[in-house]
Amino acid sequence: MSNRDIPIGIFDSGIGGLTVLKEIARELPSESTIYLGDTARVPYGIRSPETVSRYSFENTRFLYSRGIKLLVVACNTVSSISLDAIRETVSIPVVGVIEPGAKAAVAATRNKKVGVIGTAATIRSSSYTKAIQAMDATVEVFGLACPLFVPLVEEGWTEGMVVELTAERYLKELKQKGIDTLVLGCTHYPLLKEVLARVMGGGVRLIDSAIETAREIRAILEAGSLARQKKDPLTREFYVTDSPDKFLEVGERFLGSRMEFIRKIELESEV
Ligand code: DGL
Repeated sequence: MSNRDIPIGIFDSGIGGLTVLKEIARELPSESTIYLGDTARVPYGIRSPETVSRYSFENTRFLYSRGIKLLVVACNTVSSISLDAIRETVSIPVVGVIEPGAKAAVAATRNKKVGVIGTAATIRSSSYTKAIQAMDATVEVFGLACPLFVPLVEEGWTEGMVVELTAERYLKELKQKGIDTLVLGCTHYPLLKEVLARVMGGGVRLIDSAIETAREIRAILEAGSLARQKKDPLTREFYVTDSPDKFLEVGERFLGSRMEFIRKIELESEV
C-alpha cells in the first residue's frame, strides 16, 4: 500500500478527540482513520507535564507502529505540553489542536479580547495565549480552567440543568471581561457547544479547534501529495485502553454512526 493510502492516526485521552475525528471525516471523507482513546488514564488535564508526556509517547508509539501517514494529537492538554517532543520521535507530519484554534480566534475577534477555556494543564501552560499573541500581540487573552466539563462529557451529560449551571458558574468570570470570542480549548467542549453558546450569548463567537484542525490536515495532505487515492471503502478503527462500553455508547451517539471495529488494548510503557 502506498503511503497515501494508509490511515491518519488520532489520539486523545478519551472520548473528546472524537470531535476532531468527526470533523476530519467531514472535511476528508475518503480518508481512513485509526483512533486511540486512552480511556484507562483519562483525564490528562489534571496531571503533571511529565506524566502527560509519558502517556503521549506511549500513544504515539502505538499508532505509529500500525503504519499511519499523519498523526493528529487531538488533545489540547498533550498539544500544549508535548507536541514538539512528539514531533522529534516520528518522521510523519504531526498536527496539534492549539495553533489552528489560535489562528481562527485571531481572525474572528473584533474587539481583541479572547477567552480560552480548557483543562487546568492547558490553561497553566498558557499555550493558547502564547500562540495567539505570537500572531497578534495586541490581542488580550483570558484563560479559564473548567475541569468539571470533562467528566460531564465522559458521562454523556452534554445538556440539561447540571451542565447549564456548571457553565454559568464557570463562564460568569469571562463574560465580565467583555470577550467577543471564546476558544473551546479542550476536545470535549465542542460537545457542550449549544449550552456554552447559550450561556455566553449571541455576541460571543465560539471557536471549535476541531473544525480548524481538520482544515489544516487537509492542507497538509494536499501540499504533501498524501491524500488517499484508493477507491475501495475506507476503514475506521477504534482502540481504547479500558472497557469499550461507555466509549461505544457515547461515541456512537456523538458520531451518529456505528463503531464496527473497536478493541481494548494494553499500551507498552517505555521502561
Ligand atoms: N482531551 C483533553 C484536552 O483536550 C481533555 C480531557 C483530559 O483532561 O484528559 O485537553
